[in-house]
Amino acid sequence: YRIAVFASGQGNNLQALVDAEAAGTLGGQIDLLVCDKPNAPVIERAKRAGVDCFVFNPKSYPSREDAERDIIVQLKKRSIDLIVLAGYMRLLTSTIVEPYMGRIINIHPSLLPAFPGKDAIGQALRYGVKVTGVTVHFVDGGMDTGPIIAQRALEIDPNDDEHSLAQRIHRIEQELYPQVVSLFVQGKIALDGRLVTFQS
Ligand code: GRF
Repeated sequence: YRIAVFASGQGNNLQALVDAEAAGTLGGQIDLLVCDKPNAPVIERAKRAGVDCFVFNPKSYPSREDAERDIIVQLKKRSIDLIVLAGYMRLLTSTIVEPYMGRIINIHPSLLPAFPGKDAIGQALRYGVKVTGVTVHFVDGGMDTGPIIAQRALEIDPNDDEHSLAQRIHRIEQELYPQVVSLFVQGKIALDGRLVTFQS
């Protein structure tokens, strides 16, 4: 089972997936990193793990679709079965979403549908919610709108700031994401319209 991770940033989720693969609990292999930020720390992590990297500069393409067509060439070359978004800061267009529908997942640091988009942790703190969390969902054409696969909640402490809350959220993400990927690879996640069910 062949997996591509798309990421733009630190790569802690990529690392968690790579570690799960090394431990034999992922059930698939991470064959490609797609990264839109030529200086992102995630690239070093991928290289260290022996993962091929396709790094591109969005500014060198006339449109998002043109960039995505080049990405698809890389996905096809490696017969990628599943796309895992891990802090990929670009919205995918139908160029990728349509052919890979049901095979693209994302992780988002809030309990969707609350606080979609950028800075979800800051949004939750400023709004004053007392509970927030992490969501893994299928990707459709929207911003964090696709069918929800799994969620974990956590309480916001009155003393929390962005740093302390982000740390707890990231810890949960790094535990949850490899679990969900493993379930997906085992064919245990079924999608029926908006609803996701689990086969035992
Ligand atoms: C994570 O919080 C993820 O939920 C969000 O971007 C962050 C990526 O972190 N969409 P990392 O690059 O995996 O460390």
